[in-house]
Amino acid sequence: MKTSFYYQQQSLYCENTNLNAFAQKQSSPFYLYSKNELLQNCKAITEAGSGSDFLPCYALKANYNPTLLRLIRDMGFGADVVSGGELEFALKIGFPAEKIVFAGVGKSAAEIEFAIQTGIHSLNIESAEELKQTARIAARLQKKVRIALRVNPDIDAHTHAYISTGKHINKFGITIDEALRLYPAAANDPWLNPAGIHVHIGSQITEKGPFLKTVEFLLDFASLLKDRNVPITYLDLGGGIGVNYKNDFRDPDVPNSYISEILPAYINGLKDSGLKLVAELGRSVIATSGLLITQVLYRKQTPLKKFIVVDAAMNNLIRPSLYSAYHEIVPLNLDSQEKETVDVVGPVCESGDFFAKDRAMQPLKQGDFIAITAAGAYGQALASNYNLRPDIPEYLVDGETVLTIYKGRSISDIYDYYEQ
Ligand SMILES: Cc1ncc(COP(=O)(O)O)c(C=O)c1O
Repeated sequence: MKTSFYYQQQSLYCENTNLNAFAQKQSSPFYLYSKNELLQNCKAITEAGSGSDFLPCYALKANYNPTLLRLIRDMGFGADVVSGGELEFALKIGFPAEKIVFAGVGKSAAEIEFAIQTGIHSLNIESAEELKQTARIAARLQKKVRIALRVNPDIDAHTHAYISTGKHINKFGITIDEALRLYPAAANDPWLNPAGIHVHIGSQITEKGPFLKTVEFLLDFASLLKDRNVPITYLDLGGGIGVNYKNDFRDPDVPNSYISEILPAYINGLKDSGLKLVAELGRSVIATSGLLITQVLYRKQTPLKKFIVVDAAMNNLIRPSLYSAYHEIVPLNLDSQEKETVDVVGPVCESGDFFAKDRAMQPLKQGDFIAITAAGAYGQALASNYNLRPDIPEYLVDGETVLTIYKGRSISDIYDYYEQ
């Protein structure tokens, strides 16, 4: 199957499942994922690393549905975690400890201790104080810990300010000069093994350029460490590969993701270093496999605008409200060639509760279903119960079969949670 989402006789399909027919039988809204799309993304990532010692790790923060995590685990991926909670979850799912990397700018002492006790692949250290804290805990536990310093290369990733992380105005990482002082000190500590260099320059990057600059940086920096007798054995390349948020599924040749365009170039640039390569990929693994499906509640017109009010809201998918992120929105049934310009908005009591502004769309009427595309990453994972809206279900399509992989949480479930 080449594309996981496509139109056939005016109806949107996921694999062999007619989505409009499926949606009519469910309560709306809901998330729906394609198993085929997820596995294809995993394969493209693994292929990009073939011929090198490559450990792709999946960033749990993008989506932590257990069924999806098991599929990713079974594709040989490790896990990238950013909290004790994610570490606990990754272990419960069965990611091997030696394939787990732990990043994050504010790990607590308890989280560091948990990670060291568990024997994960490595911790990515984000400050001089965190380095000291890690050394102290490792000494107390009498366990040597493998670490990488997250070096901030000051590379502009040309992405949204909220998801750019590799510049010096960002809170992330350690400057090059400070890292050059900290590495030799760490190498002299009996409980630290500073074997890696970690970078992550940002998210939703759709050009090769910033990654090629990162390759140069990593090679130069590794050679500076060699001059200082710090033996590096691996590079952690971070994540950040972008996806196509503008695919409307009408042309099967439009690529859904930038994995094949960017990742082989990034990895090839580092292949000859002889170092193990670790990647931490979230969005590029899972985003394009997911749709948020929602039903039109009302049409509404003011003197200035036409609104389509749908039953999903910013509490289900906050990316448009938070980053003005663009998601293509497609009807589950194509009934017209006409277009009208509308805002697609949710029922939450905030003007920021929108999915699209001034978007040219097929005219929609009450009861129509639409899909907000590429919603698999940073969608359900950032959802909340704001306005006391219940958690919505998640489904996984596998050919003609649709499995419920999360049944959601009703308002009485939420009430009971507080009262018990
Ligand atoms: C340190 C780190 N690694 C990996 C990721 C995953 O990034 P992406 O989903 O863009 O691949 C993030 C995202 O915030 C991150 O902060």
